[in-house]
Amino acid sequence: MIEAGRPWWRDAVVYEVYPRSFADSDGDGNGDLDGLRNRLPYLVDLGIDAVWIAPWYPSPFADGGYDVSDYRDIAPVFGTLDDADALIRDAHEHGIRVIIDLVANHTSEQHPWFQAALHSPPGSPERERYFFRDGLGEDGEQPPNNWISAFGGPAWARVAEPDGSSGQWYLHTFAPQQPDLNWRNDDVRDEFDAILRFWLDRGVDGVRVDAAPAMAKAPGLPDADYGPEPRFDTADWVDNPHWDVDDVHEIFRRWRGIADSYDGDRVFVSEAVVNGLERLRRYVRPGELHTTFNFEFLKTPWGAGLRTVIDETITALAPTGAPPTWVLSSHDETRLVTRYGRHRTGAAPLGGGAGARSDLELGTRRARAAALLMLALPGGAYIYQGEELGLPDVEDIPEDQLQDPIWARSGRTERGRDGCRVPLPWSGTAPPFGFGPADSAPWLPQPRSWTELTVAAQAADPTSMLSLYRRALRIRREVSGFHSDEFRWRDAPAGVLDFERADGVRCLVNLSPTALAVDAEVEVLVSSEPLHGGVLPTDVAVWLGPSRSAPGDGH
Ligand code: NOJ
Repeated sequence: MIEAGRPWWRDAVVYEVYPRSFADSDGDGNGDLDGLRNRLPYLVDLGIDAVWIAPWYPSPFADGGYDVSDYRDIAPVFGTLDDADALIRDAHEHGIRVIIDLVANHTSEQHPWFQAALHSPPGSPERERYFFRDGLGEDGEQPPNNWISAFGGPAWARVAEPDGSSGQWYLHTFAPQQPDLNWRNDDVRDEFDAILRFWLDRGVDGVRVDAAPAMAKAPGLPDADYGPEPRFDTADWVDNPHWDVDDVHEIFRRWRGIADSYDGDRVFVSEAVVNGLERLRRYVRPGELHTTFNFEFLKTPWGAGLRTVIDETITALAPTGAPPTWVLSSHDETRLVTRYGRHRTGAAPLGGGAGARSDLELGTRRARAAALLMLALPGGAYIYQGEELGLPDVEDIPEDQLQDPIWARSGRTERGRDGCRVPLPWSGTAPPFGFGPADSAPWLPQPRSWTELTVAAQAADPTSMLSLYRRALRIRREVSGFHSDEFRWRDAPAGVLDFERADGVRCLVNLSPTALAVDAEVEVLVSSEPLHGGVLPTDVAVWLGPSRSAPGDGH
């Protein structure tokens, strides 16, 4: 039974669109909003409930659009504000909700506020909106503290003062082109209230909160105690002065009040990589954000440890009332089939691990099983564009075409995240594979080997990854057992995940080295590989209907 009044986001399947790489309507090599609009029927056929669109604002693209220079407009390369309105309207007509991405920890260096700060003296109100500080050392030549940047190197950059002299330093948790905002400043708070209203007024259904734990800093900006060899591995940080500082929650309570003043079920989802589920659950306490990504699931290696993380997630979030969310990949992570084909199958921070050998056949088999696992769990699920096509990471993009700031900031030792951002293959047998018009060149090169991975090729093949996703999503939508919070483990041999949702719907995933016999009396709704003779091989998942002999099952 679907509960009346249950908010849509409690069990929504959200599809992440990385707009630059989704579909290019005008042939400039970059995806755009009209490209997305034209492809809405594809998303309807896929069977998702909502799209999350990565930043679409004007930006110098120093960090893939996560460096915003105007929060109330659309990047010209993607279209116009009218195109965004048309997209939101059309998506709604197709039954698809729209979640946008809000980057509130930092602006672009090109944002008028930061430009004004650069042209204003130390101590000015313009500089108070960011973190400008004098440096240490005799001539202020050392950064104000020891904080490190997510993309490598110190988190501080020194400016030239308006008179040309070496001046203060400003804080940038990410690239130097992304100066951090000071959330203790009233201008900042008021401005983002207005930005939120601007988009909620335009009809967006939700907001993803980028880098949520970075938004508050400890007063006085004290040195961090990272231990030897500092690494930006926030999941390991405890009591860090620039990550997951308790004051951050005040901002979210304020934002929740704004969302609640709107009609419909508007939703927040936070991106929060913090130290464990206890810390994570604070983001979704009553009166704060509705949902949060759960990166523990993605970091967990393929194997029986998944059961532990599923249990811990459900248990940790239960007291808050927030549903769990499940995510296996994104524009920041190594693509799933590549990751699951490696020796180390858990995700490393920011797409790390590139270059390690991957058995793509094995990775694909596991990714198919993982899709059925994720889509059978209670709560929301996120699919990153191309995950439904089983795209691998592109690991041989020529170095001179790499664009992720991680590449330069790491001294060209880490390739960064471009490998998972290569434009989608839609059709045809050669690049641009229908991503844009025939003579266009996608902003990152597509491998020629993607001929068999195009949407057109996979749509015609009932055994493809795309066909598996379509089937699973249709069943998830149609079978009421998936629209509830009910979840129960069944007794199972070691290495086998076996759980039941409402109305007796059941999911089995064989992570053990031995094949498992499946109850012949039960209807197979979908399986990640063909089941021969009622046997579930290693790395295969299956959804089963209610047992025919179960009392009260209505059959
Ligand atoms: C998280 C985003 O997903 C990532 O792509 C970006 O680089 C950082 N936040 C900084 O905004």
